Amino acid sequence: MGGLARLEYRGYDSAGIAAVTTDRERVSTSKKAGKLVNLAKQLADRPLPDATAAIGHTRWATHGAPTDANAHPHIAAGGRIAIIHNGIIENYSTLRKELLAQGVDFLSETDTEVAGHLLAAEVAKGLSLADGMRALVSRLEGAFTLLAVDAQDPGTVVGARRNSPLVVGIGEGENFLGSDVVAFIEHTRTALELGQDEVVELTADAVRVTSFDGTVVDREPYHVDWDSAAAEKGGFATFMDKEIHDQPAAVADTLRGRVDERGKLQLDAGIIDESVLNSVDKIVVVACGTAAYAGMVAKYAIEHWCRIPVEVELAHEFRYRDPVVNVKTLVVAISQSGETMDTIMAIRHAQQQGASVIGIVNTQGSTIAREADAVLYTRAGPEIAVASTKAFVAQITAAYLLGIYLAEIRGNKFPDEIASLMEQLSEIPAKIQRILDTSGPIREVARSMANHNTVLFLGRHVGYPIAMEGALKLKELAYIHAEGFAAGELKHGPIALIEEGVPVFIILPSAHGRESLHSKVVSNIQEVRARGAFTMVIAEEGDTEAADHAEHVFSIPVAPVLMTPLLSVIPLQIFALELATAKGLDVDQPRNLAKSVTVE
Ligand code: G6P
Repeated sequence: MGGLARLEYRGYDSAGIAAVTTDRERVSTSKKAGKLVNLAKQLADRPLPDATAAIGHTRWATHGAPTDANAHPHIAAGGRIAIIHNGIIENYSTLRKELLAQGVDFLSETDTEVAGHLLAAEVAKGLSLADGMRALVSRLEGAFTLLAVDAQDPGTVVGARRNSPLVVGIGEGENFLGSDVVAFIEHTRTALELGQDEVVELTADAVRVTSFDGTVVDREPYHVDWDSAAAEKGGFATFMDKEIHDQPAAVADTLRGRVDERGKLQLDAGIIDESVLNSVDKIVVVACGTAAYAGMVAKYAIEHWCRIPVEVELAHEFRYRDPVVNVKTLVVAISQSGETMDTIMAIRHAQQQGASVIGIVNTQGSTIAREADAVLYTRAGPEIAVASTKAFVAQITAAYLLGIYLAEIRGNKFPDEIASLMEQLSEIPAKIQRILDTSGPIREVARSMANHNTVLFLGRHVGYPIAMEGALKLKELAYIHAEGFAAGELKHGPIALIEEGVPVFIILPSAHGRESLHSKVVSNIQEVRARGAFTMVIAEEGDTEAADHAEHVFSIPVAPVLMTPLLSVIPLQIFALELATAKGLDVDQPRNLAKSVTVE
């Protein structure tokens, strides 16, 4: 149950466990709709017998509503076989019809159950569970990571992986499987990542990996460089609050040791030849959700520093519109999990067109980290809360490092300019800490706004993606209608939304440096205020004008304009967290969401 609890961030609409006991007829299962706590209650009333092997699952529904019946595991052959699944089996409807014609009874509406019955049929022919799995996967299309157990082969778990992640934890006299190392981190820090189209056969003391065709694969285990404490709440009431407070460390760790003795930036893995990077004439950032907003922030910096055009595109839109990508394109895939299917598909498409791909990824050994030509890891540590916070600031930091690196090798910046940018970045952790230490007022205001139905966010330049990220946080956590707008666009339509008392957050740029930007945003504040908006302004410390235009001013430390997104987002994260908490909502596991979306 501990392992399942740690994986609950991936889906939490139902959960279940199948245990293999010495009864060789059938496995014992327990499953329940709703969060894991419901399953825990059921197990407390009706415990499963002691098992030699077990599989468990937390679900994010694709086929079939989140009910007890649709929860995994699914059983087949009268309970001899149990199976769990992540992903979507795209040809499930044809397979289901075939099985129905053979007289198979279905207990659920899921695509997974189809796989269970097909596997049972293979095993009934006399194949071992692993051979049966290899036969099964040849019939499936789509994305599937499957784990199965057989009552007649107690002590063995067989897994198969296509597209969705699967990691083996290697212990002493015990072995584990999980979608993420957090599932078994309290037992072992030695992990082995399964590759695409591979099958694993696991017993307490052996791990055998083959490709789908049965060829034995030799995979090197790796050491996980954080421990179980990093995946705990550390004294905070929620993971999200803890992760907000992890942000100074997330930025500092992402910066650490990046520059070698010659002053050159180091990527983590894989090499893209400098000559390739020099010939790049376009950068395309592909990402989803919060990671896409990190990409939008990075666009401003990379274009400014490197004079290379940067496009930012939602990965799912990029893949299917025949984008113009070639050997001169550098694709930057940003992803916390490294497992977002939309982003994976986008990079595969880009690679097919000859583009080089750099992954900015938080999860070691994840699919994007392995498939990209080079990786720059964000070292945010495990992010458990579904709404992304520390990964976001780490993603911006890493993308900035990439921009500085490109500016360096392409000769856009002199060494002293590079050093100055690195210095500006190195000052960010302490500045974030200052915001966290003085977050009392924003928390108080957030609590007072729990009854509002709409909150708008305005920003210009780098403040624009931050406005959208602030709105996303509020939607995700507080289920409030929230929109982020480019402040200049307001007068072209969205201003019609303003009426008496509507709360509007405005990210006010520094009055120094880009004078015009500050005064333009001040005008935008006046425009909404004149129409009755309740204005809350995020302004630089010492901004004497801000208070004249706002009901509340929240200050952030002074920083060069391109560094400010790393600061201005923090009060917005805290606002969403606090408002949702005041509404009594579960901020770590908001409704309908999953942290890692491994389906397209
Ligand atoms: C999901 C999460 C978001 C996240 C997005 C991208 O939708 O709920 O918080 O930003 O996926 O995830 P990634 O792991 O690729 O950064």
